[in-house]
Amino acid sequence: MNITVAGTGYVGLVTGVCLAEVGHQVTCVDPSQEKIVLLNLGISPIYEPELDGLIEKNTNAGKLTFTTDYEQAYAQSDVIFIGVGTPENEDGSANLHYVFQVVKQIAESITRDCLIVIKSTVPIGTNDRLETYIKHHLKHKVAVEVASNPEFLAQGSAIKDTLYASRIVIGVESKRAKDILTSIYEPFKQPILTMNRRSAEMVKYASNDFLALKISFINDIANLCEVVGANIDDVTSGMSYDERIGKKFLNPGIGYGGSCFPKDTKALHWLAEEEGYVLRTVKAAIEVNEKQKFKLISKARTEFSSFHGLKVAVLGLTFKPGTDDLREAPSIPNVRLLLNEGAKVHVYDPVGAENFKKLFPTDVVYEKIPEKALEGADICFIFTEWEEIKAIDLTIIKEKMNEPFVFDGRNCFPLEEAREVGINYFSIGRPHVKGMRAGGRDGDGFLVS
Ligand code: UDX
Repeated sequence: MNITVAGTGYVGLVTGVCLAEVGHQVTCVDPSQEKIVLLNLGISPIYEPELDGLIEKNTNAGKLTFTTDYEQAYAQSDVIFIGVGTPENEDGSANLHYVFQVVKQIAESITRDCLIVIKSTVPIGTNDRLETYIKHHLKHKVAVEVASNPEFLAQGSAIKDTLYASRIVIGVESKRAKDILTSIYEPFKQPILTMNRRSAEMVKYASNDFLALKISFINDIANLCEVVGANIDDVTSGMSYDERIGKKFLNPGIGYGGSCFPKDTKALHWLAEEEGYVLRTVKAAIEVNEKQKFKLISKARTEFSSFHGLKVAVLGLTFKPGTDDLREAPSIPNVRLLLNEGAKVHVYDPVGAENFKKLFPTDVVYEKIPEKALEGADICFIFTEWEEIKAIDLTIIKEKMNEPFVFDGRNCFPLEEAREVGINYFSIGRPHVKGMRAGGRDGDGFLVS
């Protein structure tokens, strides 16, 4: 079976590489000459653990090829996976431009019966629309069908999430499509769930929106903990022993970012509204997240009347650790705000600095080590829980900064450590530690001597 994957972003490239890894013959297609040149050299255009090694291994084994020549690739395909982006339109709806562009090229190129598999996250009903569209644009008399096969990978663990997926969801309308996809996924040895296309499309949105909701819920509770004097660490620990709640996705912070949760919550909310239904829970998750992004700044405003002229160390830029991706990263609007208010911003991120430079080429200072960013700083904001940041010794912060004020959006440090070292430390959902103001009271109400 000849398999082609359209798109070499996170979803497309990881899908192609993993299909080759389990033994399939795969061609990955992308219009970007630059990306294809890199991939043919065995270099991944995205930062993802294990990906480079698997590209090299499967390319050398002759199981994986990369090309810009979509006509030839599609013409020889039995199955074409589509893993192109579906970014957010201004009104929150999903932009299907790339998906329709690719299926038009497919319709005009295929010369044999073909199954088109949609891995991109698309609104419910899109697979039906795509099938009609392809059939309308076919150049040759071939049988074509569309199947939905949503992707559940998370950045930073994309290879593991795909090779050892929690489940493989297949949305099909015929036995033939079901048989083809089942045989493709057979080597993965993971549970395969078969359903109709609309349900499969919905599984993806419902899963992502549920996780986003879980994060917004815990952020809401964390904010309340601060008001009522509880500690979110103890609260989540107490909750998580209930297996129905679980331990995962209960980390409070400065909101979810990335290429999926922000976009998929808005897209489903928009789609529901189009259908005359208000998805109240998802709407609330979006609202909480928007506000949460600026939680650290509001905390800092209680301590500083203005950021003008202050040196601000920003540690962590990416939307989460283990990726160089900055999409919807809370660091971006926060740095913009700090710059607008006249702060001198020094940033550190172990991987994301290059991408950040594309957004802020000259107005911030890029530091290669956190200590440099902290030197003489008045405020430190932490936006990503990189290991390199969690490993910073708080005594270094105390030594390097002026009176140290640390606003930690990812709860990287134990409160006891901050107390012992004696810094001003504000995190999410936990008591504030006021280390330096002698005579005052810390977050637990103890007198600071
Ligand atoms: C997510 C889903 O996890 C994945 O299944 C889906 O296919 C794509 O979207 P990803 O965006 O790569 O993956 O990252 P994820 O690890 O889920 O984190 C998303 C955001 O939520 C990050 O900004 C992260 O910091 C935040 N988050 C996550 C929290 O704030 N708290 C948590 O407990 C977990």
